[in-house]
This record gives sequence, C-alpha cells and structure tokens, in this order.
Amino acid sequence: MKAAFSRRLLRWYDKEQRELPWRGQSDPYCIWISEAMLQQTVVATVIPYYHRFLKAFPSVARLAAAPESDVMHAWAGLGYYSRARSLKKAAEMVMERFGGQLPASEEKLRSLPGIGPYTAAAVAAIAFGQRAFALDGNAARVMARVMGHKEYLEDHSTKTALHEHGLALVPPARSGDFAQAVMELGARICGPRVPKCGECPVAGLCVAFTTNQTTTLPKRRPKRPKRPVHMICVAAHDQGRLLFEQRPAPGLLAGTWTLPASEAAASGDPEATARQVLAKVGLTSARLRVLPGQVRHVFTHLDVQATVVWAQVARPVPAGQQWVKPAQACDLALASYTRKLLGHIEAHASSARNKGL
Ligand code: ADE
Repeated sequence: MKAAFSRRLLRWYDKEQRELPWRGQSDPYCIWISEAMLQQTVVATVIPYYHRFLKAFPSVARLAAAPESDVMHAWAGLGYYSRARSLKKAAEMVMERFGGQLPASEEKLRSLPGIGPYTAAAVAAIAFGQRAFALDGNAARVMARVMGHKEYLEDHSTKTALHEHGLALVPPARSGDFAQAVMELGARICGPRVPKCGECPVAGLCVAFTTNQTTTLPKRRPKRPKRPVHMICVAAHDQGRLLFEQRPAPGLLAGTWTLPASEAAASGDPEATARQVLAKVGLTSARLRVLPGQVRHVFTHLDVQATVVWAQVARPVPAGQQWVKPAQACDLALASYTRKLLGHIEAHASSARNKGL
C-alpha cells in the first residue's frame, strides 16, 4: 500500500502540479524563503512577495547584512511580523555557525530562529532530498483522511500520529516531490469541506473515502470565538502629513508603523478617547472629527472594528514616531490592517478638510 500510495500520488503530481516560482529551484535559500512565506498565506499572495524579497535579498549573506527595517518592509502585508525578524536573525546565524550554507538536517534547521518542525522538514526534503515529512494544515487534512484518524486534528497526539504515518509513506528517492505533492493534493483536491474524491489519485487507498467519511473527517475542535475589539485610531495630521508610530515588540503588529490608537468601549466617546491617545504622544488638538463608518479587520484572535478620528495638530517631533505624507506611507513597513485604515482615511478625509477640519 505504501509504494502504491506514493507511486499514484507522484504520477498525478508530475502531470498536474502548478508551475510555481520555487519549484524546480535547487537553491535551499529560495526554498526556505518560499516555505516561510507559504506558512503565512496562500500561494497566489506569496508569489509577488517571493519575487520582491529575493530581488531585495538574493542570498543568505545579503539577508543577514540587510537593515532589519528593510526586511520588515519587504515582509509587510504577509502578517506575523516577528517571522520577518526571525528570518533575518536566522540568516545571521547561518553566516556565523554554518559558513553561509543552510544546514541540510532537520535538527540543525530547527536550531535556527523561526524554523519550526514544518519548515525544517519542508526545507530538508525539498532542498536537500532528506527523508522528512512536512506536516502543514493541508498535509494534516490529507493524512487524517487517508488514515481515517478520528481524534481532533488540533490535538498534539494527532499531529504525532499523522506525522508518523506520513513519514512512513515518503519514498526515499523523491522526498521533496512527495512533500509538495501532498500539499498540492490538500490545496487542489482534498479541500476542507467537500473534497473532490472523483479526481483524487489515491482515493482507493483512503480510509475516509472507502468508509464514506470524507465530510466528517478530519474532526475539528470547535473554534473559540475571536474577541471583538473596538479601536479608536487617530489620524493626527499637520500640513499634509500623518503621524505614524512604531509598534513595540513583542506583540500585535510588532515593528510595523501604525496610527496612534487605543482600545475603547464601543459605546464610549470617540473624541474623548482620541484626546487621550494624543495626550499620550504629547499632542493636543482643537479640531477633531470622527470619520463616518468603521474599518473591520480580523486577526487570529481578534475581530477589530476601528473608528478613525481625524485630528488637526501642531507638529512636534517625538521619538519613535514619524510624520509622513500619506503618499509616502507605502515606504514604511505597514500591516494590512494599517493599509485598510489609510484607505478609509483617504475616502473620508477630504470631506473633513472641506469642512475646515
Ligand atoms: N504550501 C506550503 N509549501 C508549499 C509548496 N512548496 N508549494 C505549494 N504550496 C505550498
């Protein structure tokens, strides 16, 4: 069954795989960057980031030598900014400890910052042909169905069992292709809700399919609801410039540039909160205007509704802050959330300006 599984899966992969910029790549650095990005988001989003990042930092050495702010900027929009920082730190360690060459073993790869079990296995298999099995969300779903695993997908013991099962199926000669074929199957055929079993090359070897459980497996733990949060974000402006401040690390949006803001009760007075936010950065404003509507952004654990308050201020130059023309804000490392806020401001600020605010 093992040999039949990998044979059928790889035959399908050889015919059906998408052409992706990191496929057919032999440079371990490129594989590493692609896998780090693919942990964050879907393939279509990753592709332009991947090209831009490798253009800016074409080697481990260049990444290690780059200013952290440049790395953050190239990553901004992908989310989890601590990963960008880890990537740079890991590059520095590869220079110091491994003579500039990424190590080939899973264990050594895992000793680097930001490289967890998934990325280590993916890089070891894809870049170095090591016998390793990369268990990401797609691979876990595929394996849970293939094995007919009935415990919660989120359980640690489930991950161990799925990893063991997957590793046993890895064909030694094509471990990297096997890893990508499992991910590809998960992304294209073995989807979360209604898998396309009619098109699946390994349906006949899949317990969930042969016992008619494809829609009930894998079993998922009910999700904890995201905490609803109401934010007051202040668009403090002076002579066409907006005030940005850098978020502290660690924490949400760490290291990115955002509008000064504070959490507030949804029923509270936005202007009063905006004044408190301004006071914290040593500013006052006689002219405040609450922009109409709200910006919604969903983070991993938070569901944010943001109200933006447009505030004319007189500009001092506080440390850790920047006054930036909105058109030049794209040069800063901005989170997707902050870009949304800027879009909202652009849509409404001109009417505030026309009213003399
Ligand atoms: N998701 C994670 N790694 C991937 C890869 N190498 N190709 C396509 N999707 C992926």
